[in-house]
Amino acid sequence: MDAASADGRRWIADRYAPAQENWVRLNMITSLTGSAVGPDGTSDTLTNRADRAILGVIRASADAIIVGAETVRAEGYLLPRRSRLAVITGSGDLAGHRLDPDPDGPDDQVLLVMPEGAEPPPAAHGVTVVPVAASEGRMSATGILSSLIERGLRHIVCEGGPTLAAQFAADDLIDEYCVTAAPHLVPTAGPFLPLRRPIDTWPAGVLVDDDGFSYLRLRRR
Ligand SMILES: NC(=O)c1ccc[n+]([C@@H]2O[C@H](COP(=O)([O-])OP(=O)(O)OC[C@H]3O[C@@H](n4cnc5c(N)ncnc54)[C@H](OP(=O)(O)O)[C@@H]3O)[C@@H](O)[C@H]2O)c1
Repeated sequence: MDAASADGRRWIADRYAPAQENWVRLNMITSLTGSAVGPDGTSDTLTNRADRAILGVIRASADAIIVGAETVRAEGYLLPRRSRLAVITGSGDLAGHRLDPDPDGPDDQVLLVMPEGAEPPPAAHGVTVVPVAASEGRMSATGILSSLIERGLRHIVCEGGPTLAAQFAADDLIDEYCVTAAPHLVPTAGPFLPLRRPIDTWPAGVLVDDDGFSYLRLRRR
C-alpha cells in the first residue's frame, strides 16, 4: 500500500479508526534505542513519509491534539488542520512556535491549558486560555484531560513530548499507544516514555514499511 496515495490513506484510516466515542491516544515515534529525538534534537530526523501519513490519519480523527510546551518550543509546532491544539504550559512561553491561527476561524483553535492563576501571554485571536487547578504550578494529567472533555472534545491525541506523555501514562489515561519504532540507532538522553511502572497492553495492530519502520498500536488491557 502506498501510504501517500488516497487509497493508502483510506486503508490506514480504517485501521486507525477510534474504537469508541471517548478515546485517548498517545502518538509518538522512538528510535530503536528509545530516543524521542534524532540527531537534530527533534523528532524530524526520526520520522519518514509513512509515519507522517499515519500521523495525518490519527490527527484527522482527533478533536484535540495535546502537546507539551517544550515540544512547541523545540519543534516550532504547526496548527493541525482539523482539530484543536491544546498546549500544556505553566510558563505560557511558546517561543519559536509557528502556530498561525486563522483570522476567520474560531476563538479556540489553540487552547492554552495553564495552571489557574498563571500569567497568560498577551491575548491573540484564535487562542483561548483554559485554566486548570494546579499544585505548585503543576496541573494533573487527569485535570488537563477533564478540562478538554468538558469542552466536548472526545477523541484526544497526546503527541508528547516524553515529560507530558509520561504523566498521561502514569494516570492511566491512555486507551491506545500508537508508537512508531524507527530503525535508527542514535544516542539516548532518556526514554521516549519515561515510566515508573509497567503498563499492561496488548497489540491491536502492527504495520511495517519498506524502510524498516514498524507501527504498533498497543491497547491498555
Ligand atoms: N518522538 C516523538 O514522538 C516526540 C514527540 C514530541 C516531542 N518530541 C521531542 O521531545 C522534546 C520535548 O519533550 P519534553 O519531555 O522535554 O517536554 P514536553 O513534554 O514537550 O513539554 C514539557 C513542558 O510542558 C509543560 N508541562 C508539562 N506537564 C505539565 C504540567 N503537569 N503542568 C504544567 N505544565 C506542564 C511545561 O511547560 P512550561 O515550561 O511552558 O511551563 C513543561 O516544561 C523535544 O526535543 C521534541 O522534539 C518527540
